[in-house]
Amino acid sequence: MRILGISGSPRAKGNTEILVHEALRAASEMGAKADFIALSGKKIKPCTGCGTCRTESSMGICVIKDDDVPRIYEAMKEADGIIVASPVYFLSVTAQLKALFDRSVILRYAKGMPVDRPGVPGGPEFLLKNKVGGAIAVGGGRDGGQLFTVNSILQWMLLQSMIVVGNNYGMGASAKAGMKGDALNDEIGIAMARHVGLRVAEVAGKFRG
Ligand SMILES: Cc1cc2nc3c(=O)[nH]c(=O)nc-3n(C[C@H](O)[C@H](O)[C@H](O)COP(=O)(O)O)c2cc1C
Repeated sequence: MRILGISGSPRAKGNTEILVHEALRAASEMGAKADFIALSGKKIKPCTGCGTCRTESSMGICVIKDDDVPRIYEAMKEADGIIVASPVYFLSVTAQLKALFDRSVILRYAKGMPVDRPGVPGGPEFLLKNKVGGAIAVGGGRDGGQLFTVNSILQWMLLQSMIVVGNNYGMGASAKAGMKGDALNDEIGIAMARHVGLRVAEVAGKFRG
């Protein structure tokens, strides 16, 4: 079982990364092989809305090929479970993570739209379908929008037909940390992140049988 953790922060080795590593450590303790991707320093071009992905000919390949997104999607496709974490930026996910989410529309049209394939059952092929997903958010404020941010991440997962889990506490992990490294002092935030890792690994493990 492979669990991928993605940090959506543009700040390298910050609080989001700390929390993702905690979640992945917990998943590893459940027997998962953990993979980690940080969006900091990655080139992620925004979706231009060209619509090519909705055609049969695209076959799940976006026309934008000269950035880091295709490699990130390969890692997502290989994972059984995906943990997505973001710092709260103005009550939501970072621009980098939102760009990644928008570009992921291609993963919903691996074989084009059903209308392009009359008589073919099953509808469009969603490449992240049935992968297990969990969310983590960290903000500098005590009630700084962590829940909105967790919600944005989970909503993206739902639109990808993923199976969304919480963490035995709530919808996902909420941590309070402002300066780089502060997450290490947020005992509850770290426990919540660990429980996201445990739940994602637990449910992904059941799916693998
Ligand atoms: C542009 C920007 C917007 C932010 N907006 C919020 C916010 O709305 N709520 C909040 O609690 N913290 C906010 N923060 C603080 C970060 O979420 C916080 O510092 C977090 O720990 C950063 O995580 P990182 O170390 O992984 O980058 C903001 C920070 C930046 C740079």
